[in-house]
Amino acid sequence: MKEVVVANWKMNKTCAEARSFAKNFKELVRERNREVVICPPFTSLWVLQEELKGTGIKIGAQDVFYKDWGAYTGEISPPMLVELNCEYVIVGHSERRNILNETDEIVRKKLFCAVEHGLVPILCVGEKLEERERGETEKVVEKQLVSALKGISEDLKVVVAYEPVWAIGTGKNATPEQAQEVHAFIRGILEGLVSRDFSEKTPILYGGSVKPENAKALLSQKDINGLLVGGASLNPESFARIVLC
Ligand code: PGA
Repeated sequence: MKEVVVANWKMNKTCAEARSFAKNFKELVRERNREVVICPPFTSLWVLQEELKGTGIKIGAQDVFYKDWGAYTGEISPPMLVELNCEYVIVGHSERRNILNETDEIVRKKLFCAVEHGLVPILCVGEKLEERERGETEKVVEKQLVSALKGISEDLKVVVAYEPVWAIGTGKNATPEQAQEVHAFIRGILEGLVSRDFSEKTPILYGGSVKPENAKALLSQKDINGLLVGGASLNPESFARIVLC
C-alpha cells in the first residue's frame, strides 16, 4: 500500500503564505514515493490548486458540511470542494469534536456525504488522556469507528487517522509501539465492520506531534501506513523531511 502523508495546517496561513509554501515545497519533494496531501484553510484551496497543478501533490479540506447546498451559514459543501480539485477531506478531527462539539452522528453524516461526492474522507479517531489512563482507548476508538463507518460500502476509499488527543500539539507523541498496538486494533475493527479487503486496503495514519525526528520510526511499524502532521507541516523544509524520511 502506498503510504500517505497529510499536512493539516489548521487555522494557519494566509493565501500569500500558502502560495509561498507551495512554491518552495513542490521543489523539495520532486523525488518521492509517498502520496502527499495538503489540507489548508478553505480560503487557500484555490491557491494550492493553482500552485500544485501538475505536481501530483493532492489537496484536501479540513472539514466539510453534510448537505450539498442551502441555508447553512458559514458552511462549505462537498461539491464546492470537488470544484477546487480537492480529493480528500478530514472529518472528525479532535479539535472539531472537542472545541466545536461535533458529535459522532455529525461526523458520520459528513463522511457519508463526502464519499457520495467522490471525496476521500480522512476519518480521525483517538482517545483523550483521561480515557487512556482509565484503560478505555480501545472502547473509545471502536465507538468512533463504528459510528462513522457502519454500513459503508467496501468499494469506497477511506483513510483512517489515529490521533491520540493527548499527543496533538503537545510535543508528546505516542511511541511507535503504542501507536502500532492501536493501529492493529483499528485494522481488526475495520475487518469486522466491513471486510478483510477493506481493512487491508485502508491506510491507517498516525497523527500527534509527528516531527522529522520521529517520522521514520513511526512509519516502520507494520500497521502505520502514513502520517497526519500538524505543526511540523507548516514549514516546507520540515514537512519535506517527513515526506522523504
Ligand atoms: P500536531 O497535530 O502534529 O501539531 O500534533 C496533528 C493533528 O492535529 O492533526
